[in-house]
Amino acid sequence: MRPPRGSLLVRGIGLLVTNRPELGEGALGVLRDVDLVVEDGTVAWIGGARTSPAADEMLDAAGRCVVPGFVDSHTHLVFAGDRVEEFTARMAGTRYDTGGISATVAATRSAPQGVLMESAAKLAREAEAQGTTTLETKSGYGLTVADESRCLEVAGTIAEEVTFLGAHVVAPEYRGSEQEYVALVTGPMLEACAPKARWCDVFCEEGVFGPDAAREILQAGLDHGLGLRVHANQLSCGPGVQLAVEMGAASADHCTHLDGADVDALAGSDTVATLLPGAEFSTRSPYPDARRLLDSGVTVALATDCNPGTSYTTSMPFVIALAVREMHMTPDEALFAATAGGARALRREEIGALTPGSRGDLVVLNAPTAAHLAYRPGVALVATVVRAGRVLG
Ligand code: NIG
Ligand code: FE
Repeated sequence: MRPPRGSLLVRGIGLLVTNRPELGEGALGVLRDVDLVVEDGTVAWIGGARTSPAADEMLDAAGRCVVPGFVDSHTHLVFAGDRVEEFTARMAGTRYDTGGISATVAATRSAPQGVLMESAAKLAREAEAQGTTTLETKSGYGLTVADESRCLEVAGTIAEEVTFLGAHVVAPEYRGSEQEYVALVTGPMLEACAPKARWCDVFCEEGVFGPDAAREILQAGLDHGLGLRVHANQLSCGPGVQLAVEMGAASADHCTHLDGADVDALAGSDTVATLLPGAEFSTRSPYPDARRLLDSGVTVALATDCNPGTSYTTSMPFVIALAVREMHMTPDEALFAATAGGARALRREEIGALTPGSRGDLVVLNAPTAAHLAYRPGVALVATVVRAGRVLG
Protein backbone atom coordinates (compact mmCIF):
# COMPACT_ATOMS: atom_id res chain seq x y z
CA MET A 1 0.00 0.00 0.00
CA ARG A 2 1.46 3.36 -1.02
CA PRO A 3 1.10 5.89 1.83
CA PRO A 4 -0.48 9.23 0.96
CA ARG A 5 1.78 12.30 1.07
CA GLY A 6 1.00 15.07 3.51
CA SER A 7 0.14 15.35 7.17
CA LEU A 8 -2.95 14.93 9.35
CA LEU A 9 -3.39 16.34 12.84
CA VAL A 10 -5.84 14.44 15.05
CA ARG A 11 -6.72 17.00 17.69
CA GLY A 12 -8.48 16.75 21.04
CA ILE A 13 -8.06 13.05 21.76
CA GLY A 14 -9.59 12.49 25.20
CA LEU A 15 -8.09 9.03 25.56
CA LEU A 16 -5.54 7.48 23.18
CA VAL A 17 -4.91 3.72 23.24
CA THR A 18 -1.30 3.24 22.09
CA ASN A 19 -1.01 -0.52 22.83
CA ARG A 20 2.46 0.24 24.17
CA PRO A 21 2.28 -0.10 27.98
CA GLU A 22 5.60 1.71 28.39
CA LEU A 23 4.05 4.85 26.83
CA GLY A 24 1.10 5.36 29.17
CA GLU A 25 -1.33 3.96 31.72
CA GLY A 26 -2.29 0.32 32.10
CA ALA A 27 -1.88 -2.65 29.78
CA LEU A 28 -2.89 -0.58 26.74
CA GLY A 29 -0.52 2.35 27.40
CA VAL A 30 -3.34 4.91 27.49
CA LEU A 31 -2.57 8.64 27.11
CA ARG A 32 -5.04 11.38 28.06
CA ASP A 33 -5.71 14.71 26.35
CA VAL A 34 -3.24 14.42 23.51
CA ASP A 35 -2.94 15.31 19.83
CA LEU A 36 -1.39 13.03 17.21
CA VAL A 37 0.21 13.83 13.86
CA VAL A 38 0.49 11.42 10.94
CA GLU A 39 3.01 12.37 8.28
CA ASP A 40 3.22 10.62 4.91
CA GLY A 41 1.23 7.71 6.31
CA THR A 42 3.21 7.20 9.54
CA VAL A 43 2.60 8.44 13.08
CA ALA A 44 5.20 11.17 13.50
CA TRP A 45 4.28 12.89 16.75
CA ILE A 46 2.11 12.41 19.85
CA GLY A 47 2.04 15.11 22.50
CA GLY A 48 0.11 17.40 24.78
CA ALA A 49 -2.90 19.17 23.33
CA ARG A 50 -2.23 22.60 21.84
CA THR A 51 1.53 21.98 21.48
CA SER A 52 1.21 20.10 18.20
CA PRO A 53 3.05 21.00 15.01
CA ALA A 54 1.08 22.37 12.04
CA ALA A 55 -0.40 19.87 9.55
CA ASP A 56 -2.10 19.95 6.14
CA GLU A 57 -5.38 18.53 7.44
CA MET A 58 -7.13 18.42 10.79
CA LEU A 59 -9.52 15.93 12.38
CA ASP A 60 -11.17 16.91 15.67
CA ALA A 61 -11.64 13.96 18.05
CA ALA A 62 -13.59 16.29 20.36
CA GLY A 63 -12.49 14.59 23.57
CA ARG A 64 -13.44 11.10 22.43
CA CYS A 65 -11.45 7.84 22.55
CA VAL A 66 -9.05 6.93 19.71
CA VAL A 67 -7.85 3.35 19.23
CA PRO A 68 -5.56 1.66 16.70
CA GLY A 69 -7.42 0.48 13.59
CA PHE A 70 -8.70 -3.08 13.88
CA VAL A 71 -6.63 -5.84 12.27
CA ASP A 72 -8.97 -8.54 10.96
CA SER A 73 -6.45 -11.32 10.40
CA HIS A 74 -8.88 -14.06 9.32
CA THR A 75 -11.65 -13.65 6.74
CA HIS A 76 -13.02 -15.50 3.70
CA LEU A 77 -14.49 -12.64 1.66
CA VAL A 78 -14.26 -14.10 -1.85
CA PHE A 79 -17.40 -16.13 -2.51
CA ALA A 80 -20.77 -15.99 -4.23
CA GLY A 81 -24.23 -16.59 -2.82
CA ASP A 82 -25.14 -17.03 0.83
CA ARG A 83 -26.31 -19.85 3.12
CA VAL A 84 -29.09 -18.24 5.05
CA GLU A 85 -31.22 -21.41 4.91
CA GLU A 86 -28.38 -23.39 6.51
CA PHE A 87 -28.13 -20.76 9.27
CA THR A 88 -31.88 -20.81 9.82
CA ALA A 89 -31.91 -24.62 10.04
CA ARG A 90 -29.03 -24.47 12.52
CA MET A 91 -30.89 -22.05 14.73
CA ALA A 92 -33.71 -24.61 14.73
CA GLY A 93 -31.32 -27.31 15.98
CA THR A 94 -29.31 -28.70 13.02
CA ARG A 95 -25.60 -29.09 13.81
CA TYR A 96 -22.95 -27.37 11.73
CA ASP A 97 -20.86 -29.60 9.53
CA THR A 98 -18.52 -28.77 6.69
CA GLY A 99 -20.92 -30.11 4.02
CA GLY A 100 -22.34 -26.64 3.34
CA ILE A 101 -18.99 -25.47 1.96
CA SER A 102 -19.76 -27.29 -1.31
CA ALA A 103 -22.81 -25.05 -1.91
CA THR A 104 -20.57 -21.97 -1.74
CA VAL A 105 -17.98 -23.68 -3.96
CA ALA A 106 -20.62 -24.34 -6.64
CA ALA A 107 -21.91 -20.75 -6.48
CA THR A 108 -18.38 -19.31 -6.56
CA ARG A 109 -17.27 -21.43 -9.51
CA SER A 110 -20.21 -20.28 -11.60
CA ALA A 111 -19.91 -16.59 -10.67
CA PRO A 112 -18.33 -14.22 -13.20
CA GLN A 113 -15.19 -12.46 -11.97
CA GLY A 114 -16.97 -9.10 -11.83
CA VAL A 115 -19.62 -10.49 -9.46
CA LEU A 116 -16.98 -11.95 -7.12
CA MET A 117 -15.09 -8.69 -7.24
CA GLU A 118 -18.14 -6.59 -6.44
CA SER A 119 -19.30 -8.69 -3.50
CA ALA A 120 -15.82 -8.98 -1.97
CA ALA A 121 -15.28 -5.23 -2.33
CA LYS A 122 -18.64 -4.58 -0.68
CA LEU A 123 -17.68 -6.72 2.31
CA ALA A 124 -14.29 -5.00 2.53
CA ARG A 125 -16.02 -1.60 2.59
CA GLU A 126 -18.38 -2.89 5.26
CA ALA A 127 -15.38 -3.96 7.39
CA GLU A 128 -13.67 -0.62 6.87
CA ALA A 129 -16.75 1.30 7.99
CA GLN A 130 -16.59 -0.68 11.24
CA GLY A 131 -12.99 0.27 11.91
CA THR A 132 -10.96 -2.44 10.17
CA THR A 133 -7.82 -0.91 8.67
CA THR A 134 -5.98 -4.16 7.82
CA LEU A 135 -7.68 -7.16 6.26
CA GLU A 136 -6.51 -10.68 5.58
CA THR A 137 -8.59 -12.74 3.19
CA LYS A 138 -8.40 -16.17 1.60
CA SER A 139 -9.30 -18.25 -1.40
CA GLY A 140 -10.89 -21.61 -0.61
CA TYR A 141 -14.25 -21.62 -2.38
CA GLY A 142 -12.82 -22.30 -5.86
CA LEU A 143 -10.90 -25.55 -5.39
CA THR A 144 -9.74 -25.83 -9.01
CA VAL A 145 -6.48 -24.33 -10.27
CA ALA A 146 -8.32 -21.69 -12.29
CA ASP A 147 -10.92 -20.84 -9.63
CA GLU A 148 -8.47 -20.64 -6.72
CA SER A 149 -6.23 -18.50 -8.86
CA ARG A 150 -9.00 -16.06 -9.83
CA CYS A 151 -10.27 -15.90 -6.24
CA LEU A 152 -6.78 -14.86 -5.13
CA GLU A 153 -6.79 -12.16 -7.80
CA VAL A 154 -9.96 -10.76 -6.25
CA ALA A 155 -8.48 -11.14 -2.74
CA GLY A 156 -5.42 -9.13 -3.78
CA THR A 157 -7.55 -6.19 -4.83
CA ILE A 158 -9.44 -5.90 -1.52
CA ALA A 159 -7.01 -7.10 1.17
CA GLU A 160 -3.42 -6.37 2.13
CA GLU A 161 -2.82 -9.93 3.31
CA VAL A 162 -3.74 -12.77 0.98
CA THR A 163 -3.89 -16.46 1.89
CA PHE A 164 -4.07 -19.51 -0.36
CA LEU A 165 -6.62 -22.00 1.04
CA GLY A 166 -6.87 -24.55 -1.77
CA ALA A 167 -6.93 -27.08 1.09
CA HIS A 168 -10.21 -25.79 2.53
CA VAL A 169 -11.96 -29.09 1.82
CA VAL A 170 -11.37 -31.84 -0.75
CA ALA A 171 -12.98 -30.57 -3.97
CA PRO A 172 -16.31 -32.33 -4.62
CA GLU A 173 -15.05 -34.05 -7.81
CA TYR A 174 -12.14 -35.59 -5.82
CA ARG A 175 -14.29 -37.05 -3.06
CA GLY A 176 -12.87 -40.48 -2.22
CA SER A 177 -9.50 -39.61 -3.79
CA GLU A 178 -8.09 -37.29 -1.18
CA GLN A 179 -4.47 -38.06 -2.05
CA GLU A 180 -5.04 -37.01 -5.66
CA TYR A 181 -6.53 -33.73 -4.49
CA VAL A 182 -3.55 -33.14 -2.17
CA ALA A 183 -1.27 -33.74 -5.19
CA LEU A 184 -3.24 -31.13 -7.15
CA VAL A 185 -3.02 -28.60 -4.29
CA THR A 186 0.71 -29.14 -3.67
CA GLY A 187 1.49 -29.27 -7.42
CA PRO A 188 -0.21 -27.21 -10.13
CA MET A 189 -2.50 -25.28 -7.79
CA LEU A 190 0.31 -23.96 -5.59
CA GLU A 191 2.39 -23.25 -8.69
CA ALA A 192 -0.36 -20.99 -10.02
CA CYS A 193 -1.42 -19.52 -6.67
CA ALA A 194 1.78 -18.96 -4.67
CA PRO A 195 2.75 -15.82 -6.59
CA LYS A 196 -0.63 -14.28 -5.66
CA ALA A 197 -0.47 -14.98 -1.91
CA ARG A 198 1.70 -14.40 1.14
CA TRP A 199 0.27 -17.25 3.23
CA CYS A 200 -0.75 -20.89 2.87
CA ASP A 201 -3.53 -22.29 5.07
CA VAL A 202 -5.11 -25.73 5.53
CA PHE A 203 -8.28 -26.86 7.30
CA CYS A 204 -6.86 -29.58 9.54
CA GLU A 205 -9.86 -31.39 10.98
CA GLU A 206 -11.18 -34.93 11.27
CA GLY A 207 -12.94 -35.75 8.01
CA VAL A 208 -11.29 -32.84 6.16
CA PHE A 209 -7.46 -32.91 6.03
CA GLY A 210 -5.70 -35.19 8.54
CA PRO A 211 -2.25 -34.49 10.00
CA ASP A 212 -0.25 -36.16 7.21
CA ALA A 213 -2.03 -34.40 4.37
CA ALA A 214 -1.99 -31.10 6.28
CA ARG A 215 1.77 -31.40 6.92
CA GLU A 216 2.39 -32.15 3.24
CA ILE A 217 0.36 -29.12 2.16
CA LEU A 218 2.01 -26.78 4.67
CA GLN A 219 5.48 -28.03 3.69
CA ALA A 220 4.66 -27.39 0.02
CA GLY A 221 3.52 -23.88 0.97
CA LEU A 222 6.80 -23.26 2.77
CA ASP A 223 8.73 -24.61 -0.23
CA HIS A 224 6.93 -22.04 -2.39
CA GLY A 225 8.00 -19.23 -0.07
CA LEU A 226 4.68 -18.79 1.74
CA GLY A 227 4.17 -18.23 5.47
CA LEU A 228 1.79 -20.57 7.25
CA ARG A 229 -1.54 -20.36 9.06
CA VAL A 230 -3.79 -23.29 10.03
CA HIS A 231 -7.53 -23.75 10.61
CA ALA A 232 -6.95 -25.81 13.75
CA ASN A 233 -9.06 -27.57 16.39
CA GLN A 234 -12.30 -25.90 15.30
CA LEU A 235 -14.76 -28.77 15.51
CA SER A 236 -12.84 -31.26 17.65
CA CYS A 237 -9.60 -31.76 19.54
CA GLY A 238 -7.06 -32.76 16.92
CA PRO A 239 -3.51 -32.37 15.68
CA GLY A 240 -3.93 -28.94 14.02
CA VAL A 241 -2.60 -26.71 16.78
CA GLN A 242 0.48 -28.81 17.44
CA LEU A 243 1.16 -29.10 13.73
CA ALA A 244 0.91 -25.31 13.39
CA VAL A 245 3.45 -24.86 16.18
CA GLU A 246 5.76 -27.59 14.82
CA MET A 247 5.74 -26.00 11.35
CA GLY A 248 6.31 -22.46 12.70
CA ALA A 249 2.93 -21.14 11.54
CA ALA A 250 2.23 -17.48 12.32
CA SER A 251 -1.20 -18.43 13.60
CA ALA A 252 -3.39 -21.33 14.66
CA ASP A 253 -6.95 -20.22 14.00
CA HIS A 254 -10.14 -21.18 15.87
CA CYS A 255 -8.53 -23.14 18.77
CA THR A 256 -12.01 -24.05 20.01
CA HIS A 257 -11.13 -27.52 21.34
CA LEU A 258 -7.76 -27.58 23.09
CA ASP A 259 -6.10 -29.94 25.54
CA GLY A 260 -3.25 -29.09 27.93
CA ALA A 261 -0.57 -30.11 25.45
CA ASP A 262 -2.03 -27.75 22.82
CA VAL A 263 -1.99 -24.82 25.25
CA ASP A 264 1.59 -25.65 26.33
CA ALA A 265 2.72 -25.90 22.71
CA LEU A 266 1.22 -22.47 21.89
CA ALA A 267 2.64 -20.92 25.07
CA GLY A 268 6.16 -21.98 24.17
CA SER A 269 5.97 -20.73 20.58
CA ASP A 270 5.64 -17.70 18.30
CA THR A 271 2.36 -19.06 16.96
CA VAL A 272 -0.58 -16.79 17.80
CA ALA A 273 -3.93 -18.32 18.82
CA THR A 274 -6.49 -16.52 16.65
CA LEU A 275 -9.94 -16.85 18.19
CA LEU A 276 -13.03 -16.43 16.02
CA PRO A 277 -16.04 -16.23 18.34
CA GLY A 278 -18.33 -15.15 15.49
CA ALA A 279 -18.11 -18.78 14.32
CA GLU A 280 -19.19 -20.16 17.71
CA PHE A 281 -21.98 -17.56 17.89
CA SER A 282 -23.30 -18.48 14.48
CA THR A 283 -22.93 -22.25 14.85
CA ARG A 284 -24.20 -22.17 18.44
CA SER A 285 -21.08 -23.93 19.70
CA PRO A 286 -19.09 -23.62 22.91
CA TYR A 287 -16.59 -20.75 22.83
CA PRO A 288 -12.82 -21.28 23.01
CA ASP A 289 -11.22 -21.05 26.46
CA ALA A 290 -9.58 -17.66 25.99
CA ARG A 291 -8.85 -17.30 29.71
CA ARG A 292 -6.77 -20.45 29.79
CA LEU A 293 -4.78 -19.30 26.76
CA LEU A 294 -4.18 -15.78 28.13
CA ASP A 295 -3.36 -17.00 31.62
CA SER A 296 -0.81 -19.40 30.10
CA GLY A 297 0.94 -16.55 28.28
CA VAL A 298 -0.28 -17.37 24.75
CA THR A 299 -0.60 -14.40 22.37
CA VAL A 300 -4.27 -14.18 21.39
CA ALA A 301 -5.74 -12.47 18.34
CA LEU A 302 -9.41 -11.88 17.59
CA ALA A 303 -10.79 -11.89 14.04
CA THR A 304 -14.20 -12.15 12.35
CA ASP A 305 -13.73 -15.30 10.17
CA CYS A 306 -16.27 -13.57 7.89
CA ASN A 307 -17.65 -16.31 5.59
CA PRO A 308 -21.13 -17.33 4.43
CA GLY A 309 -21.16 -20.59 6.43
CA THR A 310 -20.05 -20.08 10.00
CA SER A 311 -19.69 -16.35 10.63
CA TYR A 312 -21.27 -13.88 8.24
CA THR A 313 -20.08 -10.74 9.99
CA THR A 314 -17.41 -8.18 9.14
CA SER A 315 -17.73 -6.45 12.51
CA MET A 316 -14.68 -6.38 14.77
CA PRO A 317 -16.65 -4.43 17.41
CA PHE A 318 -19.14 -7.33 17.52
CA VAL A 319 -16.27 -9.81 17.93
CA ILE A 320 -14.81 -7.70 20.76
CA ALA A 321 -18.18 -7.67 22.52
CA LEU A 322 -18.47 -11.46 22.17
CA ALA A 323 -14.94 -11.97 23.48
CA VAL A 324 -15.69 -9.94 26.59
CA ARG A 325 -19.16 -11.29 27.32
CA GLU A 326 -18.75 -14.91 26.24
CA MET A 327 -15.02 -15.65 26.61
CA HIS A 328 -14.31 -13.65 29.75
CA MET A 329 -11.63 -11.50 28.18
CA THR A 330 -11.31 -8.08 29.81
CA PRO A 331 -12.20 -5.15 27.53
CA ASP A 332 -8.48 -4.27 27.45
CA GLU A 333 -7.48 -7.82 26.45
CA ALA A 334 -10.13 -7.93 23.74
CA LEU A 335 -9.11 -4.60 22.21
CA PHE A 336 -5.43 -5.57 22.30
CA ALA A 337 -6.22 -8.94 20.64
CA ALA A 338 -8.28 -7.21 17.91
CA THR A 339 -5.43 -4.83 17.07
CA ALA A 340 -1.92 -5.76 18.27
CA GLY A 341 -2.83 -9.48 18.43
CA GLY A 342 -3.94 -9.45 14.80
CA ALA A 343 -0.74 -7.66 13.83
CA ARG A 344 1.30 -10.40 15.54
CA ALA A 345 -0.77 -13.07 13.76
CA LEU A 346 0.21 -11.45 10.47
CA ARG A 347 3.80 -10.87 11.61
CA ARG A 348 3.45 -7.16 10.99
CA GLU A 349 5.39 -4.67 13.11
CA GLU A 350 4.01 -1.36 11.85
CA ILE A 351 0.30 -1.90 12.51
CA GLY A 352 -1.79 -2.65 15.62
CA ALA A 353 -0.35 0.15 17.79
CA LEU A 354 -0.18 3.94 17.81
CA THR A 355 3.33 5.14 18.52
CA PRO A 356 5.78 7.19 16.46
CA GLY A 357 6.74 4.93 13.56
CA SER A 358 3.41 3.05 13.46
CA ARG A 359 1.29 3.33 10.34
CA GLY A 360 -1.32 6.01 10.87
CA ASP A 361 -4.27 3.59 11.24
CA LEU A 362 -6.79 4.72 13.82
CA VAL A 363 -10.43 4.82 14.77
CA VAL A 364 -12.20 7.69 16.52
CA LEU A 365 -14.91 6.12 18.68
CA ASN A 366 -18.16 7.81 19.48
CA ALA A 367 -17.38 6.97 23.10
CA PRO A 368 -15.13 8.11 25.93
CA THR A 369 -13.36 4.73 26.45
CA ALA A 370 -12.54 1.61 24.44
CA ALA A 371 -14.48 -0.53 26.94
CA HIS A 372 -17.62 0.99 25.43
CA LEU A 373 -17.12 -1.34 22.43
CA ALA A 374 -18.26 -4.22 24.67
CA TYR A 375 -20.38 -2.15 27.05
CA ARG A 376 -22.58 -0.83 24.19
CA PRO A 377 -22.83 -3.91 21.92
CA GLY A 378 -24.55 -3.56 18.58
CA VAL A 379 -24.24 0.24 18.59
CA ALA A 380 -22.33 1.89 15.75
CA LEU A 381 -19.55 3.49 17.81
CA VAL A 382 -17.05 3.90 14.97
CA ALA A 383 -17.17 7.62 14.13
CA THR A 384 -14.16 8.08 11.82
CA VAL A 385 -11.64 5.65 10.33
CA VAL A 386 -8.15 6.72 9.26
CA ARG A 387 -5.79 4.47 7.29
CA ALA A 388 -2.19 5.53 6.81
CA GLY A 389 -3.17 9.09 7.66
CA ARG A 390 -6.03 9.22 5.17
CA VAL A 391 -9.52 9.88 6.51
CA LEU A 392 -11.79 7.26 4.94
CA GLY A 393 -15.37 7.68 3.80
O1 NIG B 1 -13.35 -20.84 9.16
N1 NIG B 1 -13.34 -24.00 8.95
C1 NIG B 1 -13.40 -23.84 7.77
N2 NIG B 1 -13.81 -22.79 7.10
C2 NIG B 1 -14.73 -21.79 7.53
C3 NIG B 1 -16.14 -22.21 7.33
C4 NIG B 1 -16.41 -22.40 5.94
C5 NIG B 1 -17.86 -22.56 5.59
O2 NIG B 1 -18.66 -23.20 6.31
O3 NIG B 1 -18.17 -22.04 4.49
C6 NIG B 1 -14.46 -21.34 8.95
O4 NIG B 1 -15.29 -21.44 9.86
FE1 FE C 1 -11.92 -19.56 8.53
